[in-house]
Amino acid sequence: MKVGFIQFDPVFGDIEGNIDTVKRLADSADADLFVLPELFNTGYLFTSHEEVAELSEEIPGGRTTEALSDLSRKKNAWIVAGLAERSGKNFYNSAVLVGPDGYRATYRKIHLFFEETVWFNPGDGEFQVYDIGGCTVGIMICFDWIFPESMRVLSLMGADVICHSANLVLPFCQDAMKTRCLENRVFAVTANRTGTEERGGKSLSYTGKSQITGTRGNVLFQAGEGIEEVGIVEIDVNEARNKEVNEYNNLFDDRRTDFYSALLKDNK
Ligand code: ACM
Repeated sequence: MKVGFIQFDPVFGDIEGNIDTVKRLADSADADLFVLPELFNTGYLFTSHEEVAELSEEIPGGRTTEALSDLSRKKNAWIVAGLAERSGKNFYNSAVLVGPDGYRATYRKIHLFFEETVWFNPGDGEFQVYDIGGCTVGIMICFDWIFPESMRVLSLMGADVICHSANLVLPFCQDAMKTRCLENRVFAVTANRTGTEERGGKSLSYTGKSQITGTRGNVLFQAGEGIEEVGIVEIDVNEARNKEVNEYNNLFDDRRTDFYSALLKDNK
């Protein structure tokens, strides 16, 4: 199957324009699965609760999920995309999974980064995986990468491909993803954004270099730092299904869970 990312510089608050940019970039590319950046439709640097409320949408039902579903149908492809979700009085930094038949699932970011902790509620659901026909995908959002548990759990649940919507501001993730993929033997598509946002006296620059990482920790594709780019790679998901290291060792079966009890305790 062909998996890919769409990297670009979203304009803050311009939902219609950002959706149009994605449509234009997707037009030139063919893949079975596209991953878009975190908060791809709104931009990232919110400055007030009012802004969050104004730009967040219901999932499903909101205009972005509808537009992505249309695009999915047109391209006959699955799409994972980050957007701000409104659910009653709560707001989440979420990612939606849509396919040719429309809305499939929502993931609400579990590990919020920096001022996201002010604007959003932390995700309230377990990690989940989804069969998209011949491939099982797991979803995580940006800072989730720094917690190895995120990808471990998704991989133990059977993910072949980790769809990773991101707005990275630090330079460490792309290298870390090599280890995450190696230790879990999974593929990952990290879709990052580019550009600088200056709002409310603050400035954040995003680091681009979206990356498709292979099951051996090999970089299959890395985008440039500051450019609009679509990256697509053909992968064999079967590579992610055999966790044997050699005739004596298996990445999952050899775990000694009896000795990892600290992992399940809060450290507060
Ligand atoms: C991040 O989680 N957006 C760094």
